[in-house]
Amino acid sequence: MASWLLQILIISSLHLISPSSQKETRFVYEDFLDREDLYLDGSAIVHPGGSLQLTNTSKYQIGHAFYDKPLQLTSSFSTHFVCALVKKPKVEGKPITEGGHGIAFIVSPSMDFSHAQPTRYLGVFDASTIKSPSSHVLAVELDTIWNPEFNDTKSNHVGIDVNSPLSVGVASASYYSDVEKKNESINLLSGNPIQVWVDYEDTMLTVWISPLDVKKPSRPLLSHPINLAKIFPNISKLYVGFSAATGNAVSDQYILGWSFSTDRGSLQRLDISRIAELPYSTGTDKKLLALFIILFGCLAIVVSAILA
Ligand SMILES: *[C@@H]1O[C@H](CO)[C@@H](O)[C@H](O)[C@H]1NC(C)=O
Ligand SMILES: *[C@@H]1O[C@H](CO)[C@@H](O)[C@H](O)[C@H]1NC(C)=O
Ligand SMILES: *[C@@H]1O[C@H](CO)[C@@H](O)[C@H](O)[C@H]1NC(C)=O
Ligand SMILES: *[C@@H]1O[C@H](CO)[C@@H](O)[C@H](O)[C@H]1NC(C)=O
Repeated sequence: MASWLLQILIISSLHLISPSSQKETRFVYEDFLDREDLYLDGSAIVHPGGSLQLTNTSKYQIGHAFYDKPLQLTSSFSTHFVCALVKKPKVEGKPITEGGHGIAFIVSPSMDFSHAQPTRYLGVFDASTIKSPSSHVLAVELDTIWNPEFNDTKSNHVGIDVNSPLSVGVASASYYSDVEKKNESINLLSGNPIQVWVDYEDTMLTVWISPLDVKKPSRPLLSHPINLAKIFPNISKLYVGFSAATGNAVSDQYILGWSFSTDRGSLQRLDISRIAELPYSTGTDKKLLALFIILFGCLAIVVSAILA
């Protein structure tokens, strides 16, 4: 009996100290349908086609989406996602509305961002304290509006934020073209899907972006020394996800696919050819057209009946 108890004690203590207790987590979302591990709030919705929409083009909205299980982020993590920021189409006779405000990938000890604000705070930060509501957050922002007081370089930029919207690292949205051997700028508000990679390893955070048809560039857009253990009191319990917000400037803001791993080396490939499509793409136009044809057909029958 005693040896049996001892055995259990030894096994359970071994389990506590063994490195295998550092759980590795990885996941891929090629679409966001029927995912029980997805937490959504605010204006975030999943379309029947599988895309995740964080905001629509209504003013002052915030939408969040998180992988709803806490993760242990120790020495590395890696993520690859595809997003799209779509401005309101130009309406004849009306002034063109500005697109905004942007999307951020976030790492946070909590999924509660109920005190965060829209506009330039991107649904991550609180205007009264300029910090994240939990005071601890790492954000990689794709920001379309110029806020010089937040160290933004220009309207169309990518920034690294630690606990505050004042970016510690910032670069105008561009990618290194391995074909042209030069930097090419990207218009974040083009409406076209954009690939984003964020890697964390050896206390260095590195960010790449590229258009959908360009593979991960050999040179990153941004690198900044970051130490997760210094940002977060407990790196064993962190959530990862996205935030987006609108203000007076508005856009439809989407995530179309997402791969994440708590170990940089084991990130699963995000198959670009299989990810969700933007919901607006011709679907509604086709439905309208079908309705039109049916109505026209009915009208033709009625008219010919009357004439006969
Ligand atoms: C955005 O979504 C909200 C509901 O979440 C809805 O009330 C509003 O009409 C939508 N705005 C647009 C422009 O579709
Ligand atoms: C903002 O930019 C200025 C000038 O480049 C720099 O001195 C300052 O440290 C930056 N602020 C932050 C929070 O990084
Ligand atoms: C290209 O972009 C990178 C990253 O922003 C920057 O460090 C580099 O200086 C740029 N190169 C040129 C030629 O502009
Ligand atoms: C950190 O989070 C883990 C997982 O929730 C928990 O078991 C542990 O007690 C926490 N450590 C501290 C110091 O709060």
